[in-house]
Amino acid sequence: MAGLLITMEGVEGSGKSTQIQRLADRLRLSGVPVEVSKEPGGTVLGKEIRALLLEPHPSGETWAPKAELMLFYADRAQHVARFIGPMLEQGKVVLLDRFDDSTRAYQGAQGIGDSVLDRLGEVVLGRLKPTLTLILDLDPAESLLRVEARNSASTGFRETRFDEESVAFHRRVRSRFLIIAQKDPQRVAVVSARESEDKVAEAVWAKVAPLMRTAGYRVE
Ligand code: TYD
Repeated sequence: MAGLLITMEGVEGSGKSTQIQRLADRLRLSGVPVEVSKEPGGTVLGKEIRALLLEPHPSGETWAPKAELMLFYADRAQHVARFIGPMLEQGKVVLLDRFDDSTRAYQGAQGIGDSVLDRLGEVVLGRLKPTLTLILDLDPAESLLRVEARNSASTGFRETRFDEESVAFHRRVRSRFLIIAQKDPQRVAVVSARESEDKVAEAVWAKVAPLMRTAGYRVE
């Protein structure tokens, strides 16, 4: 059975991690061989890159946008070579919490041009492309409230640097995700994340199940 790559994207607080776990559980119940991973930080060395990216440096120095971009791609190159590629070769269904569209949306919103993103994407991904990308769509005014609630509820949760950025920035990120979906409707599906967790899970399943059947898996 051929491997499949499915990615979940969206602004912070859109519920990606929860929905990925639910999807993974449901697929496993149907006997689908599933692997779940995330970016940045899907490999051991990638976790070190993740810390470099997301933990503020004591010196106060911050990454220049191009340097940050290279770190996200370094993390992705490692992830593709050491995890995603081998898992797909083994016929696994790989579910990713963020992938290349996050770079296009976030770094694009920070001013990195599309031609730079195209060229780096080509170097790092070659022909690798998700079979399906689900964008969990939510207005950042709402999603960032969820992030705040999550942060204050869990003691010791370290805020990511990005969570502190403005709603305006996240609105730009959101609109970039929506443009990605418009440009590539074959691959990308937008799912409203405003609904209840159960309803979002059903909407996600409605997109994933037919794909599994086409791939030869018997799912309900
Ligand atoms: P993460 O903890 O994954 O955020 P969340 O749980 O909310 O999805 O942190 C990753 C942060 O990095 C998030 O703000 C999005 C950002 N990011 C980019 O800017 N570019 C990228 O290519 C990726 C993968 C993530």
